[in-house]
Amino acid sequence: MFPRGEIILGVRDIHVSFGTAHILRGLDLDVRAGEILGFVGGSGTGKSVLMRAVLGLAQKQQGSIKLLGQDYDSADETTRNTMDQRLGVLFQHGALFSSLTVRENIQVPMREYHSLSQKLMDELAALKMDLVGLAAHAADRYPSQLSGGMVKRAALARALALDPDLVFLDEPTSGLDPIGAADFDELISSLRDTLGLTVFMVTHDLDSIHAVCDRVAVLRDGKVLVAGSVDEVSSVEDEWIQSYFRGKRARS
Ligand SMILES: Nc1ncnc2c1ncn2[C@@H]1O[C@H](COP(=O)(O)OP(=O)(O)OP(=O)(O)O)[C@@H](O)[C@H]1O
Ligand SMILES: [Mg+2]
Repeated sequence: MFPRGEIILGVRDIHVSFGTAHILRGLDLDVRAGEILGFVGGSGTGKSVLMRAVLGLAQKQQGSIKLLGQDYDSADETTRNTMDQRLGVLFQHGALFSSLTVRENIQVPMREYHSLSQKLMDELAALKMDLVGLAAHAADRYPSQLSGGMVKRAALARALALDPDLVFLDEPTSGLDPIGAADFDELISSLRDTLGLTVFMVTHDLDSIHAVCDRVAVLRDGKVLVAGSVDEVSSVEDEWIQSYFRGKRARS
């Protein structure tokens, strides 16, 4: 377990471009172990791109990423492999493989990194399903046979398959009704408390931010404009921040 309060993810001066589109432009961000950090910003500003860059799935042109106390780029392959196993991911799109059952989906990371017996993987998958509040009978279902909330829970179970220290959740409550979203927030918060997880959560959901986030970081013009408590961030004089936190859909 990574020491609580220390910087578990440190991003410095990250630049990511696609052709002439310069999406991330010198972004800095620290995530501390044990916190739930909400990552917000307008649609298309680069929230998912940052997540993908940190995970090595989008190429950065410049900048450094320190994960779990180590520089990711200069680490050797074995070290990177170990680091990868300590991360869990719930992607914004395509949360599950449609041709695999829930149980098989949860076992994907286990197969990728370990050679465990089928019996042990089945037991582990059952434990993870229990952890996220999925009934045992859902194990043999395919994603198309699940409700939206169940898909999110199954995707979370897969993200937790290898007992990660840090999980990346990209809009985990999008598409859920308010009660389903509130239940999911509660689940994330209780998992953080019981498992000592650190959570990086991209979200548009103001209710989630108020309910579970310790800090919020705002992505604006390719950089983190501000990061701090909800109160600190929402009082910043910026057009986007003001319309987001105090606009029509805000609480006050
Ligand atoms: N692989 C790619 N190739 C080209 N452009 C890309 C690629 N991935 C992302 N982009 C562009 O980068 C920009 C940021 O995309 P990103 O998906 O990070 O937005 P976002 O902040 O997550 O938005 P949303 O809140 O709608 O999910 C968009 O203009 C997108 O079209
Ligand atoms: Mg996105």
